[in-house]
Order: sequence, then C-alpha cells, then structure tokens
Amino acid sequence: MNKKYRKALIAGNWKMNMLPSEAKGFVEALKAEMPKQKSCDVAICAPFVVMPALMKATGGSRIALGAQDVSAHDKGAYTGEVSIAQLKDIGTKYVIIGHSERRQYHGETDELVNAKSLKTLDAGITPIICVGESLDQRERGLTLPHIEYQVRAALTAMSEEQVRRCVIAYEPIWAIGTGKTATADQAEEVCEYIRGVIRKAFSARTARSTTILYGGSMNAGNAMELLGKADIDGGLIGGASLKPTDFAKIIAATAQESAHE
Ligand code: 13P
Repeated sequence: MNKKYRKALIAGNWKMNMLPSEAKGFVEALKAEMPKQKSCDVAICAPFVVMPALMKATGGSRIALGAQDVSAHDKGAYTGEVSIAQLKDIGTKYVIIGHSERRQYHGETDELVNAKSLKTLDAGITPIICVGESLDQRERGLTLPHIEYQVRAALTAMSEEQVRRCVIAYEPIWAIGTGKTATADQAEEVCEYIRGVIRKAFSARTARSTTILYGGSMNAGNAMELLGKADIDGGLIGGASLKPTDFAKIIAATAQESAHE
C-alpha cells in the first residue's frame, strides 16, 4: 500500500561497539553476503571514531555512512561535540537523532531533537529521528499520545519538503536490546499512527512519502514479517547489525518483501 512512494532503508546502529580496526573485515563479510539486487538503501551508523575507517571500507559500495548523534551547534567551544559540517566533510549520509539511549542517559529533550534534526536537514543529510514509549507508558495506555507528542515536537518548524527528507524510527524502549520484539501488529499499529500524525500535521502527500522504520530486537528471523507491514518501510537494527550474516539476511528480507507486493 503506497510503499512505492518511499524508499526502504535498513540502517544498522552499532551503538558503542566495534573498533576502527574491525570495520574493514566487517564490510568485506557483509558485502560478500548481502544481495546484489538493490531492494533498499543500506546504512551503518557507527561511533564517530569508527566512521573514517568505515567510510574507507565501504567506498564504492552501496553501504552509506551514518552517525549516531550530532551537535545542535555549528562550531566553537563545545568540548566533546561533533558538528554537522564535520560529519558532512567525511561523507555522512544519515544521523540518528533522539535515540532513547541519548534521551535517557544524556537528557536529550524533544526541543534538542528538533534543533538537531533541523541542522541535519540544512546540511542535506537525512536525520533518522527516534521515538518510542517506555513499558510503563505502554501499560498505562499512553503509547499513542506519547508518540504523537514526540513526532510533532521533532518535526516542529519543518517545511513539508523537510519532513519528506526525514526518516522516523519507531523504537519501543521495552523492545530495545531485550530480545522482546513488538509483534508485527503492535509495530504496524504505531507506524501507521505516526503516518496519520504526519498526515494531520502536514498533508497526505507528505505522510505517504515519509520513510518510517521499526527498531527493537529486529533480527534475521522476524524481519520479513515486520517488513511485510504496510507502514513499516525498513528497520533500525542494533544487535543484529553487528553480525554480517544476520544483517545481510535482514537486507535480503526487503527484497522478498518488495517481490511480494
Ligand atoms: P536492538 O536491535 O539491539 O534491540 O537495538 C535496537 C536499537 O536501539 C536500534 O537503534
């Protein structure tokens, strides 16, 4: 349903894993195992210090370079931060923004997520904006209002054209790294709802053109069912993106998905 209007994306989030010296071997193994047919875009979001090695290793391949965060500031006295211009200079195509681990451990607010997303878009780079509810919020029936709040806050002051260049990742916090995946129906319910929020806040055209991912214990075994859902356009993969064979299988699942459409 309308999937033809948007790009499928499988993005790995390596989190704080992998050494610069391990990037080359990983990419060689992944390239050998991933399908040659291009049924989706592929990205790996690596720690900052691993990115140059990853860039070198992926050169000339279809694997795009991603970061896991960016500063909301342009340049100057912000010790420890990395600017969007610095990321652009090394060929970054995607930046994960507002991951629940950054919201939880680094106090990132919805306002900051919005500011970082706008900076990223201004640089011509794709923000992968993460939203998701806690287990407590889900159990109290607050999932959909919480998601709506996060999505609207993240997209504040964006033009329709800017929203269409964003990727939204629905990552229920209780499913991250726990092995407890949302069922395909639970994931689809929220991804469909996110598309509805974008439709209400912007337009039907923008809603049907915006790529929405699911993330949270997605793996080689459950990817096909999740990716088969109408509003799930791809995945943001943590643990399984560290294993070339598993990551390649998830990439391949998008080919089977589009073949079934
Ligand atoms: P896992 O796939 O390890 O659950 O992590 C998901 C995630 O947080 C991706 O950003």
